[in-house]
Amino acid sequence: MPAKVLAFAGSARRDSFNKKLIRIAAAGATAAGAQVTLIDLADFPMPIYDADLEAASGLPEHARRFKELMKAHNAMLIASPEYNSSISALLKNALDWASRPEPGEKPLVAYAGKVAGLLAASPGATGGMRGLVSLRMMLGNIQVLVTPEQATIPQAGEAFNADGSLKDAKKHEAVQAIGRRVAELAARLNA
Ligand SMILES: Cc1cc2nc3c(=O)[nH]c(=O)nc-3n(C[C@H](O)[C@H](O)[C@H](O)COP(=O)(O)O)c2cc1C
Repeated sequence: MPAKVLAFAGSARRDSFNKKLIRIAAAGATAAGAQVTLIDLADFPMPIYDADLEAASGLPEHARRFKELMKAHNAMLIASPEYNSSISALLKNALDWASRPEPGEKPLVAYAGKVAGLLAASPGATGGMRGLVSLRMMLGNIQVLVTPEQATIPQAGEAFNADGSLKDAKKHEAVQAIGRRVAELAARLNA
């Protein structure tokens, strides 16, 4: 079975560096034979998770859409901004909503046994790698297999060409390789 990869950035910003980065990784996964669905979290506006809201009316519409997409894929690629050494509230909130079981569902049905590849871009010198520490730990705890390889892009404001590629060809290839790795691992796990 080919890998089905859900790819997204943890930023809603129109000119997000992480949105640029996820497109490169997604292309790598596509080239390796995966079916890739690239989404923009700006199209999934969700309230901040609130257990009372969930108890009253279940998952909000866009949280359910996001969770259903997760369930329909066996792998994910995430390009995560780094906010104060961790991940963005937007990304955490979306991942939290999709972790909520609905009646008749097994726990963590959207995540358990899936493969993830992580990337980050930041205008700073560390390229967002500290945020990926949090993200890797969190995903591991919800039963996602995160690839040991990851790619980070420092000084992101100067890193991209106008066509969306990375100026550093080696880095561009390393980002595509994350996509390929996720595609290959997910395909093997589902063989
Ligand atoms: C609240 C906040 C905290 C931030 N903290 C960090 C940080 O810890 N490390 C870092 O490299 N950049 C930090 N930044 C800068 C982001 O990396 C920058 O805004 C980046 O462009 C966000 O990703 P995006 O381009 O995909 O939207 C922070 C930005 C905000 C708004």
